Amino acid sequence: MEKLNIVIFGAPGSGKGTQSEKLIEKYGLTHISTGDVLRKEIKNGSKLGKIAEEYISKGQLLPDELIVNILADTLDKCEIVKGVIFDGFPRTIPQAEALKKVLSERNMDISVVLGLEVEEKELIDRLLKRGAISGRSDDNIETINKRLEVYHSQTDPLREYYINEGKYKPITGDGTIDEIFEKIKKVIALL
Ligand code: AP5
Ligand code: MG
Repeated sequence: MEKLNIVIFGAPGSGKGTQSEKLIEKYGLTHISTGDVLRKEIKNGSKLGKIAEEYISKGQLLPDELIVNILADTLDKCEIVKGVIFDGFPRTIPQAEALKKVLSERNMDISVVLGLEVEEKELIDRLLKRGAISGRSDDNIETINKRLEVYHSQTDPLREYYINEGKYKPITGDGTIDEIFEKIKKVIALL
């Protein structure tokens, strides 16, 4: 059977990580979250972690070349049975171009880009709530605002990019976690 390779796309707080967990459970996918990889490096105190912390705590993106190498490395290390879910990557047009190349070199392709579309006020509410318990250095109002600004200027243009590729499926990302997952399942059933 053909593999199900999903890009889960959306602003900070749109529910990429939350919906990824449900997708993994239901479809047996392998999760690749660049944010999680970086946070692990920070926790381990590695050289990469120290570099990553500089960017993450300021709400800025890591340089494309660095993150593309991390992505390719992570992909080669993981076992893929039913497919992959890319969470938090790509976030710029050059990253999307790089992903296309990395995948085609491995005889892989993106099946669909699920775009979680959530209003800004709700995003900020969710991230502030998470900030009270997450310990994430970027879940404070100043860094949240910076992440949203970076999202609009650098990441949002990818929507257009994937619409042109015929891969983008918008999902209204408000409502309960289960309601949103129901919509995602319907989109996947039609692939
Ligand atoms: P990353 O870890 O990818 O963070 P992000 O994009 O800012 O997104 P979040 O993880 O904050 O939100 P999410 O969409 O996963 O939402 P979640 O499910 O947690 O990136 C962090 C940083 O790493 C970047 O800023 C950058 O510096 C660096 N980085 C990572 N990838 C990079 C790349 N490719 N290039 C360059 N730099 C990169 O949900 C949020 C909260 O809302 C949770 O508490 C959740 O419980 C709650 N929630 C979820 N759904 C609902 C719902 N339906 N109703 C109510 N609450 C909900
Ligand atoms: Mg996340």
